[in-house]
Amino acid sequence: MSPETRTSSTGSSWWNDAVIYQIYPRSFADGNGDGVGDLVGVYEHLDYLEKLGIDAIWLSPFYVSPQADAGYDVADYRDVDPLFGTLEDFDRMLDSAHSRGLKVIVDLVPNHTSSEHEWFRAALASPPGSHERARYMFRDGKGASGELAPNNWESVFGGPAWTRAADGQWYLHLFDPGQPDLNWRNAEIVDEFKDILRFWLDRGVDGFRVDVAHGLIKHDELPDTTGTMALIEGGGNRGPMWDQDDVHDIYRGWNSVLTEYGGDRMLVAEAWVSPAERLSRYVRPDEMQQAFNFDFMTVGWDAPGLRRSIDGALETNAAVGATTTWVLSNHDVVRHASRFGLEDPTSWPKGIGAEDEQPLVALGLNRARAASLLMFALPGSAYIFEGEELGLPEHTTLPDETRQDPAFARTGGDEAGRDGCRVPIPWQSDKPGFGFGPTGKTWLPQPEIFGELAVDRQDGVLDSTLEFYRSAIAVRGEHGLGSGILKWHAATHVMLDFENSGVRVIVNFGVQPIPLPDGREVLVTSDADAVVDGALQPNRAVWLG
Ligand code: NOJ
Repeated sequence: MSPETRTSSTGSSWWNDAVIYQIYPRSFADGNGDGVGDLVGVYEHLDYLEKLGIDAIWLSPFYVSPQADAGYDVADYRDVDPLFGTLEDFDRMLDSAHSRGLKVIVDLVPNHTSSEHEWFRAALASPPGSHERARYMFRDGKGASGELAPNNWESVFGGPAWTRAADGQWYLHLFDPGQPDLNWRNAEIVDEFKDILRFWLDRGVDGFRVDVAHGLIKHDELPDTTGTMALIEGGGNRGPMWDQDDVHDIYRGWNSVLTEYGGDRMLVAEAWVSPAERLSRYVRPDEMQQAFNFDFMTVGWDAPGLRRSIDGALETNAAVGATTTWVLSNHDVVRHASRFGLEDPTSWPKGIGAEDEQPLVALGLNRARAASLLMFALPGSAYIFEGEELGLPEHTTLPDETRQDPAFARTGGDEAGRDGCRVPIPWQSDKPGFGFGPTGKTWLPQPEIFGELAVDRQDGVLDSTLEFYRSAIAVRGEHGLGSGILKWHAATHVMLDFENSGVRVIVNFGVQPIPLPDGREVLVTSDADAVVDGALQPNRAVWLG
């Protein structure tokens, strides 16, 4: 294949070209009125998801958890937290999703447990050197009486990555102190997680999104690091705690477990790893099926950067026979409708607060819709984050006292954190809490603009963001763009222009209109006013038939 022509995987499994919708359960829909979304809320809105035209949903954690990190601190991997419902609620939701032809992926959090997990409680209650402590990363400290942490690692959420137990030993937590890291050199952990996979596979799930997939194995000597450890840095993450070669043995083991279930189940890695070649190792034929392509997400509104990213991802994944994924927003990053409205639309803030630069809403939305149309035109699988189909912006003025992300507190407020993208979804404009649940309660306050962006204000409204997503996803399916071959026509600093499966895709990143080729039918535009007098307007995208 020439360098101008690229495809994603050639396989026929459902995930190769799937559009997968991320549900952040606490913010999607509240079934019981306590202000926190839950599994009944998901069940009640499956019609909406079916109509959107997606192929699968991915649910962020709903397991038993003290919620130190919104459920990414799991105390029991085999049960549902009462906050989100029951196992029966899960089964009912799963059955209903399946009956509509929707696949369901759940989150797996293997790098750390909650400090409330029975294993960690037992570890704290047991002496140094015990079997119980060997499940975690306990070490003696440095200094005359062990008063210094074992090394200089910092937590991704800010502050030291070590906390001292009452008896003087230290335990490692790459994230919050409530998230102690497991010791993946211990065979008991390996066995336990295979068992957890089987528990959910037996219930019928179609796959797992694997949290911090690049972090499970640490360098044996736990050497000091000199580089930054930030999670959301878009950088290489090649410190002694990330992307160690032995981590791949774990995924080969999981691949075998999934194979026992007939081969149609999948694993998708959350691995902040670069360059693309390192990331592609996670999707070798005997490992995971997909890895999130965060490079594409972090490039920003930048034509040459996106071209480089698209080519790099397709090329390196093709080399290992894997499908490529595309994603623009998730529960850890500022929503793309807001990132692209910043003065520098390639900047990557860790949350936005009232004191920070406020994004331009209309410009951000125009660019976000154009970027989404670009994403849906690429060969591979596309992930969307709840609410982006409504054009929701980040909540950029959340009062500090409402913020719950541990990153906000642990950085002393230096990072506004991730709450702004996690605000409860508006379903009905004229209801309290914009119809999030039956009582109007919402665990985070919603900004006023959510009223005009609520589902009922967009449903059936031509040119709304919701209808735009519905038609883009439908046309993508009709033309088989997810399994097509991308052929570049042109890529400059102001334009991307390529063909996939008979569809010509043009995105305008510049300030001048771009004349469109004659004689082609307009299939989808990113906005109603995208094409004027045969020319594509700035910050817009078009698909031509
Ligand atoms: C990545 C998850 O997406 C994020 O929300 C979480 O805080 C960390 N992993 C730790 O589990």
